[in-house]
Amino acid sequence: MEKLEAIELPYKKLKGISHDQIAEHFEVLYKGYVGKVNAIRKDLEDGFKGMPNATYDKYRELKLEESFALNGVKLHEAYFMGLGRDGSVPDEIRKIFARAFGSFENWQERFYGLGMASRGWAVLYYDLDEKQLYNGLGDWHSHGGVWNAKPILVLDVYEHAYFMDFGTKRKNYIDAWFNNLNWDYILEELKNIKKWP
Ligand SMILES: [Fe+2]
Repeated sequence: MEKLEAIELPYKKLKGISHDQIAEHFEVLYKGYVGKVNAIRKDLEDGFKGMPNATYDKYRELKLEESFALNGVKLHEAYFMGLGRDGSVPDEIRKIFARAFGSFENWQERFYGLGMASRGWAVLYYDLDEKQLYNGLGDWHSHGGVWNAKPILVLDVYEHAYFMDFGTKRKNYIDAWFNNLNWDYILEELKNIKKWP
């Protein structure tokens, strides 16, 4: 099986979120998940011994932790790639969000609430079956997700994402996150899925 490779971070710093905060998060946490996916997949090469048990079995545990680590990679990549610009919202995004959520502001208010309510992730995802955008909440990487749906815009609200800069002031961190969003990238992600009318 091919080794998973970490993405390159396309920016050095953000407004109001320090280089140290981003570097710890990206270099240690995110790349740590990439390394663990590779380690687990290597162990899986000889991890299946036949007739696994649902109470405890090495193969079972490896498969569970593989999904945890891999979702950690995918969610962090969407999080980091969604940042790096000034947060200004293109008209096309406003139109798409107006159709999906009534208005962009309506979506933003709810997504803000999701960021405050979650213990891990707030995720705007596109359900490929329903062909619709939804807001989702996950308390850990492999919790709260919907299969056959693509994460589009991801907010990490684990304390490791903001505590160095903001302490307990999560609300201020979410403000800074909105102010650094790269909506052009997010629009491209949406267009890669669907031609929006
Ligand atoms: Fe994180």
